[in-house]
Amino acid sequence: MSTDGTSPDPGPGPALVTGAASGIGLAVATRLARDGRAVTLVDRDSAGVEAAAATLAAAGAQVLATPCDVTDLQGLRDVVGRAESMYGRLAGVAACAGIEVLGSVLDLAPEEWQRALDVNATGVFNVAKATMASLIDTRGAFVAVASDAGTTGAQGYSAYTASKHAVVGLVRCLALDFGPHGVRSNAVAPAFVETPMAQRIFQDSPEGEADFYRASVPLGRFAMPDEVARAVAHLLSEEASYTNGLVYAIDGGATAGYYRPA
Ligand SMILES: NC(=O)c1ccc[n+]([C@@H]2O[C@H](COP(=O)([O-])OP(=O)(O)OC[C@H]3O[C@@H](n4cnc5c(N)ncnc54)[C@H](O)[C@@H]3O)[C@@H](O)[C@H]2O)c1
Repeated sequence: MSTDGTSPDPGPGPALVTGAASGIGLAVATRLARDGRAVTLVDRDSAGVEAAAATLAAAGAQVLATPCDVTDLQGLRDVVGRAESMYGRLAGVAACAGIEVLGSVLDLAPEEWQRALDVNATGVFNVAKATMASLIDTRGAFVAVASDAGTTGAQGYSAYTASKHAVVGLVRCLALDFGPHGVRSNAVAPAFVETPMAQRIFQDSPEGEADFYRASVPLGRFAMPDEVARAVAHLLSEEASYTNGLVYAIDGGATAGYYRPA
């Protein structure tokens, strides 16, 4: 029952998470499943998404694994159809899928620039486009994982930074366009998070790069994936019922201002 005891409490509604096979997306899917939501896991890594779903199902969660690339809008529409025939209209969507593309304009081939925009920016557009009608029906919520590189420049990350700025701009417009329909749209903007993506970046970087970035964080460490997942789950929940159009920094203070480590 609801808190006033007058109407049935629908509980947390069905959710869809992209990038759910690894890192932040996997942590978000795990957290939402733990909150009692039926979760549809989307990832282009078929084996990874099946394995993630099997692990969550073994822990008692209602989960559906749907291999799909977020650059494939029709594929995403089919996924939403499958998810909703199993669990009903989506009430929460977390767009976490993304790729790292490093380099300055001189380093990058045009195809690398385009790939960063296709996956990181158009991918979020596609997820919003495939799910917004459902979220309007349920008065649900949308969260995209942007980055601190969505709010500030990042040296040597030109395509990635441009793609994440696009995500932030898109989410602000979603908040304005669909707030009147009862849909809340927000972004989270993490700095480095301990995931396979961050490991790959530092493996390919000069010696000392991880230490440099860690030292730029006033809290003195990188985030754990579940610290981002908790914020995403909060923004998708009724706890955040008046939060719309926020870009939520989860960066240990890294973008709060100039910082000189002791
Ligand atoms: N790890 C960090 O330091 C960090 C910091 C800020 C923002 N982010 C963002 O967080 C999100 C998750 O990153 P992560 O660190 O968990 O990375 P990750 O590489 O560990 O996981 C990303 C997942 O997305 C999937 N994916 C990639 N491209 C896809 C596509 N086209 N279609 C469907 N699935 C696709 C991958 O298969 C993988 O399972 C990304 O958007 C990333 O840009 C990460």
